[in-house]
Amino acid sequence: CCNKNSSYTSSRVEMEKADSFVVDDQELLDKKISSIRNAGPAKLQVIADFDATLTRYWINGRRGQSSHGLLQQGNPEFDVKRHKLHEYYHPLEFSPTISIEEKTKLMEEWWEKSHGLLIEGGLIYSAIKESVSNATIAFREGVVELFEYLEERDVPVLIFSAGLADIIEEVLKQKLHRSFKNVRIVSNRMVFDNDGHLVSFKGKTIHVLNKNEHALDMAAPIHDQSGGIDGPTDDTASVEQRTNVLLLGDHIGDLGMSDGLNYENRIAVGFLNDNIEKSISGYQKSFDIVYLNDASMLGVVDLVSQLCS
Ligand code: TMP
Repeated sequence: CCNKNSSYTSSRVEMEKADSFVVDDQELLDKKISSIRNAGPAKLQVIADFDATLTRYWINGRRGQSSHGLLQQGNPEFDVKRHKLHEYYHPLEFSPTISIEEKTKLMEEWWEKSHGLLIEGGLIYSAIKESVSNATIAFREGVVELFEYLEERDVPVLIFSAGLADIIEEVLKQKLHRSFKNVRIVSNRMVFDNDGHLVSFKGKTIHVLNKNEHALDMAAPIHDQSGGIDGPTDDTASVEQRTNVLLLGDHIGDLGMSDGLNYENRIAVGFLNDNIEKSISGYQKSFDIVYLNDASMLGVVDLVSQLCS
């Protein structure tokens, strides 16, 4: 394919056979890599989207499910209603022809309706575990290696998702079979009553196009959470001092995940899973590296090893 980059790294040669990628400005990328490397791992943090970024887009010929999509709330009528919403809104989410303003309104509508149906349909906590174990969801090859490599170097990973925190947590538990002390989640967090029924969501809804408004949530101390901030964490000061950012996303809106961080250098890696021909030019302008065709995470592992060497 349209791989302009041959110097990204020498050990990429083997990986390129499987994972095609595009780099718009090699010189700029090289500069960023060397600045981040010179500053060292103590200055680095990784911010990653979850659905279709950490997870695969295709699994054995079927579309991988999102944290929302995999949830079976044990009330078929409501599952069907949410599925219909997905059929309507998902193509709009990735449409290259709808303006950002219009798309933002549509996404607000989708999240409001979907969260409303989960509450109205009487989701109970125990349905989460079962849904995850029955789900078509898998991490991209290399995600465990990435988390391990970063954990060994005390580099924090923030999973920043417009999905559902409770589900992401369960997916990590069931699919990775271990926890990582450097990984935390900022996402929509459910509130259950004493009988285990979903009654509300914490804080302001995060959808795919307002991540920028929530970017500062991730710097909030763990004991002062208003939204879905979970897991072990650096304290606020430490996250703010990590002025080099590696951002991973599959949506242009994911670039907003680093807004509010006063970063010095940011390398943005995009996974373009669908609509490749129509979207490639926009992605190429927005992301430093764009991976195509549901690539693995191995290229990012390789990149991170350059950043931390
Ligand atoms: P992300 O921020 O981890 O990419 O998660 C958001 C994804 O969730 C987005 O691609 C759309 C998807 N989604 C559903 O599949 N069903 C839903 O009901 C909603 C609201 C979102």
